[in-house]
Amino acid sequence: MKLAILSRAPHAYSTQRLRAAAEQRGHDVRVLNTLRFAIDLVGPEPDLQYRGRPLSDYDAILPRIGNSITYFGTAVVRQFEQMDVYTPNTANGITNARDKLRANQILSRHNIGMPATAFVRNRADVRPAIQLVGGAPVVIKLLEGTQGIGVILAPEVKVAEAIIETLHSTKQNVLIQRFIAESRGRDIRALVVGDRVVAAMRRVASGDEFRSNVHRGGTVEPVELSPEYEQAAVRSAQIMGLKVAGVDMLEGNEGPLVMEVNSSPGLQGIETATNLDVAGAIIDYIGGQVAFPEIDVRQRLTVSTGYGVAELLVHGAADLVGKTLGESGLWERDITVLTLHRGTNVIPNPRKGVVLEAEDRMLCFGKLEEMRSMVPERRRRRAKVRRLPKQPIPEVS
Ligand SMILES: Nc1ncnc2c1ncn2[C@@H]1O[C@H](COP(=O)(O)OP(=O)(O)O)[C@@H](O)[C@H]1O
Ligand SMILES: [Mg+2]
Repeated sequence: MKLAILSRAPHAYSTQRLRAAAEQRGHDVRVLNTLRFAIDLVGPEPDLQYRGRPLSDYDAILPRIGNSITYFGTAVVRQFEQMDVYTPNTANGITNARDKLRANQILSRHNIGMPATAFVRNRADVRPAIQLVGGAPVVIKLLEGTQGIGVILAPEVKVAEAIIETLHSTKQNVLIQRFIAESRGRDIRALVVGDRVVAAMRRVASGDEFRSNVHRGGTVEPVELSPEYEQAAVRSAQIMGLKVAGVDMLEGNEGPLVMEVNSSPGLQGIETATNLDVAGAIIDYIGGQVAFPEIDVRQRLTVSTGYGVAELLVHGAADLVGKTLGESGLWERDITVLTLHRGTNVIPNPRKGVVLEAEDRMLCFGKLEEMRSMVPERRRRRAKVRRLPKQPIPEVS
């Protein structure tokens, strides 16, 4: 294949290793400076120029977009996507992961363990937010920090409030996060490629530092991940829309707590710690995908007006319990069941003979009009029960 590595650091360890791995496998590989592209929306089809010239044909790109150029970098990646050039990490995926709040919001509905986190703007809401995540000591984080810069541990509520107010006054947005003391300055970095973890390491903070970033003096060691940690890492990367990702997790008392998902993970630390060929695994994965790429279903499906994807409950409006999929009448109503969710199991392309059970959920593609009547009422949020303050009830006379 012909592969472009998008990077502004051709001499960096990671870029060098990726280039070498691609060459070793007989691929044609170039390192292109992300900032030298011009997005060309002039002609009938989306196009790109590089260094003022039309870009030649590429089969795949591997974006390595630094934090300082997120906007332009993701625009370039998005343009490649529009040109049907394969990328393991989409512009959306990179944007999702880059902002710690956005990442937390997306992950939070998927049953992934994360440190308790809150986000507020008004001064009056700061103290309640600190209490909400468990009180002091509390971690304060800039939304787009890296390498541990912008991650602060505040020992007391008063100090935390002062720090947050100061940052707010300089127009910085910050996350308020529970301090996971039991992880004791250690964290896990899992390198996800496709749907598996290809390497993992533990980082240990030096001295009394609580941040384990290598740039903060942390040391690294290889680690064998339990299935629980492996699953948390792979699912997080998948939910974010990243096929190449470095997932950072704290070791909480109840299991993995995902802190962040990096879309351009560095390779030096992890290859050194584990002695594994991570660069090779990434290139192999891209090679495989170029031959048979996945499609962004959401983008493609909405092209057919009136059709879409919906989740139907078997015990919902339609009385389907005990019927087979063939007898359900769905097919006649122009509804195709893509996957059947039963408990924690997922049955892709369920057969006609499958008997439907009360708790089944079906992911369907079809006429929205037809499906609308079958969609159950909006799930109500479970109200948090708060005790009312004891007050004498006035007597009615
Ligand atoms: N809630 C937390 N509790 C305990 N330690 C934390 C917490 N959040 C971050 N850390 C430590 O600080 C480091 C940096 O935090 P992280 O959110 O990954 O920011 P960065 O993007 O700068 O690496 C982590 O690797 C971890 O060691
Ligand atoms: Mg980190």
